[in-house]
This record gives sequence, structure tokens and C-alpha cells, in this order.
Amino acid sequence: MGVGLDIGSKTVKIVELSQGKNEFILKASGIAGHKGRPPEQTQTEKELTPLAETIRKLYKEVRISSKEVSIALPESQVFIRTVKFPLLTDSEIASAIKWEAEQYIPIPISEAIVQHQIIERKEDITSSQTTVLLIAVSKQIVEKYVKVVEMAGLNLIVVETELMSMVRSLAPSDQTVLILDFGAKSTDIAIAKEGRLVFSRSVLTAGEAFTRAIAQGLGIEEIRAEEYKKAYGLSESLLEGKVKEALQPTVRLVSDEIKKAIHFYQSEERGSTPSSLILAGGTAGMPEIASVLTKFLNIEVVIGNPFSKVKCDPQVVKSLSDYASYYSVAVGLAMREE
Ligand SMILES: Nc1ncnc2c1ncn2[C@@H]1O[C@H](COP(=O)(O)OP(=O)(O)OP(=O)(O)O)[C@@H](O)[C@H]1O
Ligand SMILES: [Mg+2]
Repeated sequence: MGVGLDIGSKTVKIVELSQGKNEFILKASGIAGHKGRPPEQTQTEKELTPLAETIRKLYKEVRISSKEVSIALPESQVFIRTVKFPLLTDSEIASAIKWEAEQYIPIPISEAIVQHQIIERKEDITSSQTTVLLIAVSKQIVEKYVKVVEMAGLNLIVVETELMSMVRSLAPSDQTVLILDFGAKSTDIAIAKEGRLVFSRSVLTAGEAFTRAIAQGLGIEEIRAEEYKKAYGLSESLLEGKVKEALQPTVRLVSDEIKKAIHFYQSEERGSTPSSLILAGGTAGMPEIASVLTKFLNIEVVIGNPFSKVKCDPQVVKSLSDYASYYSVAVGLAMREE
């Protein structure tokens, strides 16, 4: 088992798991805020130093035993789409993608890393087809993440995308669900069918936008607005609902994107309606967010617990409980089998 490192735009999270008989066991976990730029926004190596130092310190503090880590790239930097092929073998699909990828992805092939996963094979009297998830990312961005991990003194062994990791730690294996990574800069929306990622989208509206909305709506400093957001959130009764009022349009914008995602999945992919929405990321901790989204979307909303598939010391569970939703990507990364 491995170590998962989630490099967010505001916070870094790290988790180490080991494999028990039929379960994962939590070995170590930790979180640290950082003021550095996210790697995709840097031009020089020097700009990566503050982030690399935060990772190095966190790694030491939480006493991780292995230097081999896996990371996930932000969904906003990754291009993902499903492509339909006739019923072909795995190797036929791989070579078809190699030759045809150019027509599906927006980045020149020579500058991209392209991967794929077969998500479904269907065969009936009228039609037969294979649905493939195509994942592409620019080499330049991957190199920046590789660099920052190296600068922190660690060895990078696996790179995937945030929602791929999150689906591993949060998605049930017997249903179609929506998963939301509600971070600082971006809100990432996934649809997972029977534990597999089948749809993803990233929206650049999240925690920071909520804080700005409160600052503007109430005419206060952002530091203050951040405190109000965490203390009052979408609660009606506190501060006469003023914070809620300021937040409402931004929440609606996010919820409209979720609706669009559901609609797209149902109409384009003929997928079934997700049975629930699982919330993760720091912004999942905003008071009343689950009940407001339930109202907007008319769907059951729950706060995800990425440790539900992991055995932990009860004492540790208690100390993690407020922060559990932060760890969904890191836990999912650490659950990888490689
Ligand atoms: N109790 C809370 N109520 C509302 N917002 C919160 C709460 N706790 C944390 N947040 C917000 O969560 C965000 C940080 O979440 P997270 O650590 O998931 O982001 P990140 O992974 O660094 O960002 P991203 O994934 O967008 O790059 C911040 O915007 C912070 O204000
Ligand atoms: Mg994040």
C-alpha cells in the first residue's frame, strides 16, 4: 500500500495506508496550509520552493515511513471525455486511441500524456460498443508536479486525477452517485457508476469565491469574511441570515453546474439518475451546505467519509472527524494497488 499526497491550491494533505487482511489500515495522516502558488501557476523552479518546503515539513511531522508517493492532478488541468468504440479487444482499443487521440483532445499529442480506461462493454442484438474514458494532460504541467515532489525529497510513483482518487475512497460499488470535491479554487463534479468514474467536470467556483461573495455582500475584509463563512455559512438564523443571503447566488451557480452535469450524463450517456450526492473537500464543512444543496437539487446530500473503508484507531477517528472530508483525494491515492 502507499502514500497519497494531495497538493491543493490552499492545503496539502498526506495519508499513509497499509493493507491488512481484508482492509486498509491508517498509518499516518496530516494536513498543512500553504501560501505558495499551485504548480500549474508557476513559471520558475524558485516559485515552487514554498510549496515544496510545506510538503517536506508535513511529511516529516506526520512520520510517514515510505518516500514513494502518489499524487493527483487538479481536475481543472486535465481533459477527460468518454469515447465510444465498436466492440474491440483491449489492444485494439489501445492502438485506436493512439492513432485517433488527436481528434478527441484539445492539446497537441506531442505535448500531451494520454491514458485511457475501458469503462463498459455492451453487446446486444442491435448494437455493440465499448465505452472508453480518455484522459489527457499537458506534459508541462505534469513536469511541474514531478518537480515539486522531487524538491520535497520524495519519489513520485503514480500520477492520476483528483476525481479518480476520490471515487476510490468515496464511491459505493453498487450505485450511481455524484461526488463533489468542494475545494478552495475549484469545485470538481464526478459521476461514479458502481465505483467507476464515468463523468467529470471542473468549475472554477469554490471556497475562495464564497469568501469574496461575503466580503462584497457585507462590505467587510476577506479575513473576516472567511471567519463568517466557516462560522455561519448558509445558516438562516445566525446574523439574520445575512451571510446566507450573500452566499446564495454563488451556491446557486455551483448547483446549476451540478444540474447540468446530471442532465448531460442522462441525455448524452443515457446514464441513470444518481441516487445521492457525496460532498468532500474543505468547503463541504460549510454550515448547512448539505441541506441547501438538497433543496436546490432535490437529491439526497451526504458529507463523505473517506475513512469509511479504512480501519483506524477510535481516538484517531475522533480527532479526524472535523477534517475527514479534506482527505478524500489523499486516501483514494493511498488505496491504489501499485
Ligand atoms: N468550515 C468551513 N466552512 C466553509 N468553508 C470551509 C470550512 N473549512 C474550510 N473551508 C474552505 O475550504 C477551502 C479549502 O479546502 P481544500 O483544502 O479542500 O482546498 P484545496 O484542496 O487546497 O483547493 P483546490 O482543490 O480547489 O485546489 C478553503 O476555501 C476554506 O475556506
Ligand atoms: Mg483539493
